[in-house]
Amino acid sequence: MSFATKSLILLNILTSISSALPTNSIRAVSTCGKTIEGAGTFTKSATYTFPGTTLPSGLIASSDQIIHDQANGAPYNHIFQASNVFVKDGYLNIKVPGAQTPASAPNQAISSGEVFTEVSDILYASVRTHAIFSTEPGTCQSSFFYKSDTQEIDVEFLSDPTSQSNTNKTPDLHYTNQPTNGGDSTWTHQAAPKDIGTAVHEYRIDWTAGFTAFFVDGVLKQKYTTNVPSQPGTWLWNNWANGDKGWSVGPPKKDSVLKIQKIEMFYNTTSTAAGCV
Ligand SMILES: *[C@@H]1O[C@H](CO)[C@@H](O)[C@H](O)[C@H]1NC(C)=O
Repeated sequence: MSFATKSLILLNILTSISSALPTNSIRAVSTCGKTIEGAGTFTKSATYTFPGTTLPSGLIASSDQIIHDQANGAPYNHIFQASNVFVKDGYLNIKVPGAQTPASAPNQAISSGEVFTEVSDILYASVRTHAIFSTEPGTCQSSFFYKSDTQEIDVEFLSDPTSQSNTNKTPDLHYTNQPTNGGDSTWTHQAAPKDIGTAVHEYRIDWTAGFTAFFVDGVLKQKYTTNVPSQPGTWLWNNWANGDKGWSVGPPKKDSVLKIQKIEMFYNTTSTAAGCV
């Protein structure tokens, strides 16, 4: 799997966050104690919807982030470009344009898209992404928590049924805690909703000190108590490809567009004192 390449990517992204922060962004609203059944209480929340044509304050598009996957053996690199992130018709769209020819592209990079939270010190959360995934084969589409390659939680849709990680030969949802101690990740994959490409479903990750839990439409699909991250970080959503037959495959023949209708986040951060603010 391309975890190593992904980590490199993210290091690049995260080192750029501080310089990319808009100065006038609105902070997430405090709800002063939203309790999620089974997960506990969170002092902060944010709900993002996508009317109009611009990203809401609090979410940032990754811009010109070249990810050197070839250094880790992938056929191509990929690059997160802000032009692949756009708000239209009530959705946040994250696109991998179709018909790319990365062999002749600058840096042999596949143009991809990504959005991340301005808040970078999230420590435990319940994040619900209401989305339609693209079933165009050949990308990895995800909602994930990231601090480092040893502090990461992912729900990922691998749209190409021939990906070697889709061992059932179907485009599956993959649930992962990356290894916190250099061992194996905690990982499984399951069939995605049949209409994942046409209907909005809610994809949720709950993260506490003791576990991560993955839900689709409120139904628990997987719960892990190993490799649970314990350091604060950022939440991200992306759609990318690097040609790796073991993971994303791609690039896609036609446009692949991850369409996010709504994001609801309940979370704690380390930057403010414990309790309601
Ligand atoms: C979030 O922070 C509050 C206040 O410190 C704490 O009571 C609560 O247990 C935390 N939630 C989780 C899931 O750790």
